[in-house]
Amino acid sequence: MRPGDPKAVEQLFNAVAPSYDQLNDVLSMGLHRIWKRQLLVWLTPSGGEKWLDLCCGTGDLALSIARKVRPGGTVLGLDAAAEPLVVAKQRAASEPWLDLEWQQADAINTSLPSQSFDGVVMAYGLRNLVDPFLGLQEVRRLLRPGARAGVLDFNRTAAGTMADRFQKFYLRQLVVPVAAKAGFRDQYAYLEASLKKFPEGVAQERLAMDAGFSEACHRPMVAGQMGALLLKA
Ligand SMILES: C[S@@+](CC[C@H](N)C(=O)[O-])C[C@H]1O[C@@H](n2cnc3c(N)ncnc32)[C@H](O)[C@@H]1O
Repeated sequence: MRPGDPKAVEQLFNAVAPSYDQLNDVLSMGLHRIWKRQLLVWLTPSGGEKWLDLCCGTGDLALSIARKVRPGGTVLGLDAAAEPLVVAKQRAASEPWLDLEWQQADAINTSLPSQSFDGVVMAYGLRNLVDPFLGLQEVRRLLRPGARAGVLDFNRTAAGTMADRFQKFYLRQLVVPVAAKAGFRDQYAYLEASLKKFPEGVAQERLAMDAGFSEACHRPMVAGQMGALLLKA
């Protein structure tokens, strides 16, 4: 599959959606929850705020933020694929008091009004977009002045480093074989391919500044395996 091909990416995530949460837990040994929690510690969503979870998938971050912005706050979860949103809606149904909405749309062209959010998050989504710069531009457009955003994803490791060797080992020897057992070999082999064209941390900071953010700081996490791009409009 060609990274950045929107139709193919949509089909991939539609196919994986029913198993996505379980696979995520197994493949990260549950650690993705801690990384997402850390992102929210940095971003501090608070009561009454309006947040957007772009590439929300099955809604992990949208749900966590919706719990934090009570009372009075709202969260919109947006994803290009329909099936992850079906799972997200099912999950949200067990907490009907949360003010959550879901929308199917492309993250680089949301059609949402400019300057309408206090915060935006995107976890494991930027890497999948046709062009990460267009994604960052759209995030910037949607934020109110001074508002914040966080982009969590795998970190593009420097070739030949220990971190790079570990990442290749992890993706090839753990992720793909485990996913293959669940019938998703090709879908998870895509992960390494998508990382090849993903900008490194410093390049992400530059792209964000070019997209109009006033502050951009890329924080490596998990010994450089993951990264969080923290942004201020
Ligand atoms: C790896 S999943 C991450 C889901 C969720 N954010 C999480 O961390 O668990 C990536 C999600 O991005 C969505 N996606 C990919 N390209 C997109 C696009 N152009 N616009 C909106 N969503 C997109 C996929 O459908 C998929 O649900």
